[in-house]
Amino acid sequence: MKHPIVIAIDGTSASGKSTNAKLVATALGYVYVDTGAMYRTLAWYCLQKKIDVHDAKAVAAACRKWKTSLECADKKVHLLVDGYTPAKEIRTAETSAAVPHVAAVPKVREWMKKKQRECIQFGHLVMEGRDIGTNVFPETDFKFYLDACLQERTQRRAAEGVQENLAARDQRDSQRAAAPLMIALGAKVINNSGMTAEQTSGMIIAEINKRLAARK
Ligand code: DC
Repeated sequence: MKHPIVIAIDGTSASGKSTNAKLVATALGYVYVDTGAMYRTLAWYCLQKKIDVHDAKAVAAACRKWKTSLECADKKVHLLVDGYTPAKEIRTAETSAAVPHVAAVPKVREWMKKKQRECIQFGHLVMEGRDIGTNVFPETDFKFYLDACLQERTQRRAAEGVQENLAARDQRDSQRAAAPLMIALGAKVINNSGMTAEQTSGMIIAEINKRLAARK
């Protein structure tokens, strides 16, 4: 594939990034990449290895040394550590609490950006995260920023059985020095409060088609 297309979907926690990125990827037949899962995998790895996630140097050293590989199965990219993809383990409250610290380490972000850019080897991508449009693939013409009101996002997390202080997490994600959560230049901003996932993904697909048509 000569010039794979990258659809960048960024936004706040529980703004529907995962649901919509998966719907868009399926509709277009593109490969789905959950970059949050990659950061979560490193946070889980540090917890497993008893590395203090508040110790940026130790986390950076772990990230330099861990044995990983990228695989694409069923149109989804997986980050394997020592040949294993952690799944449930990266969604625990313990990992969720550890991940923002890991994600704030500049060397970690550098490593993640390189790996995330390598995903292009698998073809056209729908990549969700916090800095895809601003930092990982700033050159893409297909940038989206999702948000919803705090009350609705908190309800969505609660419906998944997770009680989380989203305002605090958003603040940490937006205020960190390295690649903070921001609206990328040229991004289509969608506030999906009160909207269904089908409506949101429909808007995203319509915008992608519009931007694709404008290229011709
Ligand atoms: O989307 P998520 O909740 O799985 O993300 C987990 C954490 O990783 C969250 O604190 C934000 C961070 N993250 C990031 O900093 N950059 C990304 N591209 C994706 C996630």
